Amino acid sequence: MSLVSAKEMLLKARNEGYGVAQININNLEWIKSVLTTVEELKSPVILGVSEGAAKYMGGYKNVMAMVRELDEFYNVTVPVAVHLDHGTYEGSFKALAAGFTSIMFDGSHYPFEENLAKTKEVVAACHAKGVSVEAEVGAIGGEEDGVIGGGEIADPEECRLIAATGVDMFAAGIGNIHGMYPPNWKGLDFDVLKEVQRVTNNVPLVLHGGSGIPEDMIKKAVSMGVSKINVNTECQIEFAKATRAYIEAGKDLVGKGFDPRKLLAPGAEAIKNVVREKLTLFGSVNKA
Ligand code: 13P
Repeated sequence: MSLVSAKEMLLKARNEGYGVAQININNLEWIKSVLTTVEELKSPVILGVSEGAAKYMGGYKNVMAMVRELDEFYNVTVPVAVHLDHGTYEGSFKALAAGFTSIMFDGSHYPFEENLAKTKEVVAACHAKGVSVEAEVGAIGGEEDGVIGGGEIADPEECRLIAATGVDMFAAGIGNIHGMYPPNWKGLDFDVLKEVQRVTNNVPLVLHGGSGIPEDMIKKAVSMGVSKINVNTECQIEFAKATRAYIEAGKDLVGKGFDPRKLLAPGAEAIKNVVREKLTLFGSVNKA
């Protein structure tokens, strides 16, 4: 059994200067692909579960059951955290009750005082159970209805106050966005990252929107205190691309090529390739 809180793995990453990947999971294929790859590369990992993905997979308890059983089935020995991604206040408590080992409470859309108060409550409840907590200041942008937001920049004083609640990891908007980046994206704001790092007193930092950030920016961010990098979109795109290639090549029409175990295999393999690439880039291979 290797399911653990994200706290220790992030402190180790922080001390040794590498990043731990949060790979968001969407279904059975995702969980299998990620668990087998991290075991192969002896890397710790954080499985990110959004509230929407949890609903799709049949609820928080079913997510935990699937991860727990697959973890045992594949004899996973590396540390794995099951982490609620962008949790609401209510969702944070539900995921905690279901046995998640790590929770992100995203109060960034609340007025600051309310974000602070709710973060404190979530920290108290989670820490009582040995569960790690991520908080966020400065909403992370992304594409919504075709409109691309540039990514909000976090206020350092707000970062300081939220980090002081005792959270185990901290996400700040530094110009990053979810989804792929537009060609005219200005890049990560390293001055803000430096300031956030300074005011948050060595709390491991989280970089959301990890898909499509150039390698040199990832490496620089890690060298400046980012210990967790979230990746979702890239796995989805590569899964879809491989599935499309299989169907466009007419393979589903040959023999039993329509069997979902065959149909979804190229996509599952594509996810493994993305995960291998990210673990290598973030530097977590052989760090379990
Ligand atoms: P991407 O989908 O851009 O990789 O972002 C993932 C993420 O930050 C999840 O919280």
